[in-house]
Amino acid sequence: MKKPTRREFVASLGAGSLFLAVGRPGPVSSVFGQGLQAGYAQLDPTNPFNFIHPLKLPSDSGVFGMLSPENITLTAREVRFDLAPGVSANGFAYVAFENLRTYWNPILRASKGQHLHVTHRNALSENSIIHWHGLSVDWLNDGHPVYEISPGGVYHYAFEVQNRAGTYIYHTHAMGRVGRQMNAGLVSAMLIDDEAEIALREALDLTPGVTDVPLIIQDRRFNNGTFDYNPTPPDLLAGFVGDVILTNFGINPTMDVDARVYRFRILNAANARTLRIAVTRGAELARFDVIGNDQLLDRPYQVQEVFLAPGERVEVLLDLRPYRDGDILFLQSLPFDPMHQEHGGHSVPNRVGQFSRLSDGEQFYILKLNVKQTTTYDRRVPDVLSEVKAINAEGAEMRTFSIVAPDFMPGGDFRWRINGRLFSADEFPVAAKRNSTEVWEMRNANISMPHPMHLHGFPFQVLERKGSPGQIQRLAIDSNGLLPTDKGWKDTVLVWPGEVVTVAIDFTHNFGGEQLFLFHCHNLEHADNGMVMHYKVV
Ligand code: C2O
Ligand code: CU
Ligand code: CU
Repeated sequence: MKKPTRREFVASLGAGSLFLAVGRPGPVSSVFGQGLQAGYAQLDPTNPFNFIHPLKLPSDSGVFGMLSPENITLTAREVRFDLAPGVSANGFAYVAFENLRTYWNPILRASKGQHLHVTHRNALSENSIIHWHGLSVDWLNDGHPVYEISPGGVYHYAFEVQNRAGTYIYHTHAMGRVGRQMNAGLVSAMLIDDEAEIALREALDLTPGVTDVPLIIQDRRFNNGTFDYNPTPPDLLAGFVGDVILTNFGINPTMDVDARVYRFRILNAANARTLRIAVTRGAELARFDVIGNDQLLDRPYQVQEVFLAPGERVEVLLDLRPYRDGDILFLQSLPFDPMHQEHGGHSVPNRVGQFSRLSDGEQFYILKLNVKQTTTYDRRVPDVLSEVKAINAEGAEMRTFSIVAPDFMPGGDFRWRINGRLFSADEFPVAAKRNSTEVWEMRNANISMPHPMHLHGFPFQVLERKGSPGQIQRLAIDSNGLLPTDKGWKDTVLVWPGEVVTVAIDFTHNFGGEQLFLFHCHNLEHADNGMVMHYKVV
């Protein structure tokens, strides 16, 4: 596929039209095993004919098997992942052994109010630590980098699950190595149940792992049976994007579906790639309901597309009743302008031979859906999903965080900064008061790139999105410029170049003592290179 130029993108968006991929029919019969370089044609996610491998659904064992533990041991170790017939790669996984079964990166299910005890063992030959992304836990349970465990070490977590229903994440937070270790595989999901969630599943007759399906999406570069993670200077600046898409650790998946409502819980676990999620049948865009972002929303929002940045989640309901046996739909990422101007007009040295064949913003497919049978399914999507109480931000302390591109010094400085600062372990530029409310304004420069900003410890509510580029502005649903995916409770929010995104945070908590947390960009190369700010709650 010829890459559209920036001008073509903008023109197409302005005209309200879409780039719909023209499939390149290719041989699908050849076996992958004969050298992955030669086999890229079969791994290429822009070719819909490559979508032939059954989607790996979470079951009661194996990769992303589901577990509802009160006590669990997660051991980070080296494994070899089977990604498709004939394609495997060395990586890292959280291995658990429960009920005489082995799980890799188990999807943990928990109920609001329960207690969870996790023993994290490090069987790697490098430091690591688990972070519970989105969970309201005290800092001793948050995976703060000072608690990194060395090879052979153990860390014990014990906390109450305080959060509302939602799709949360757990992943490595080894300082300076998050990108490398997540790319190796150390990431999975945690699904929280509460009364609203149980009512929703009952109303729609959703079964986890069958009709309520987590899709954990990452991208990779391959090199001789390993995930190739050797970011070049331009990769560090823009973030590392791969050219093979893994969904639940499978390549180019397909799924047979009935003509009923499905829920997909989509987690963008990529290091740096943003997705523009849509469902298509041929050239048509299907409508779907967004019911959750980082947490369950107040009501369904009908859309035709959503942007999803690294660290963010979106839960969608797709009603397949209008379709018939034999119909084929694709979940895909539509093309968009990635707005990468991180070079600020300067040229950055490249290294030969290491690159992604799929740029950020390029179209590709994620999942092929084959409609099989019509059923007698007659449920309807509830009008109300959960209660979202608005944070009262009146009189709140206000802070501004500016993102600016790196300085271009001779020899290259590829480090993005927040308010001009790089991470420093013993500095706390922000001290919020316990039980107070604050309003944080995140300003991205015009000459920049998108940054998904993430807060540990406390979820927030987006109040306003200003100065949005056209491709975002046209999706706004209220006068504050909010997108459907900005509603409710968030822990990660994408800030596009030129935007000012304002969020309200309620620092009420019942944890003992001073709390030390991180605020950072979830573009993992940015975070690993210092785009992280310490904050404390005193
Ligand atoms: Cu998911 Cu500090 O990150
Ligand atoms: Cu986090
Ligand atoms: Cu960033």
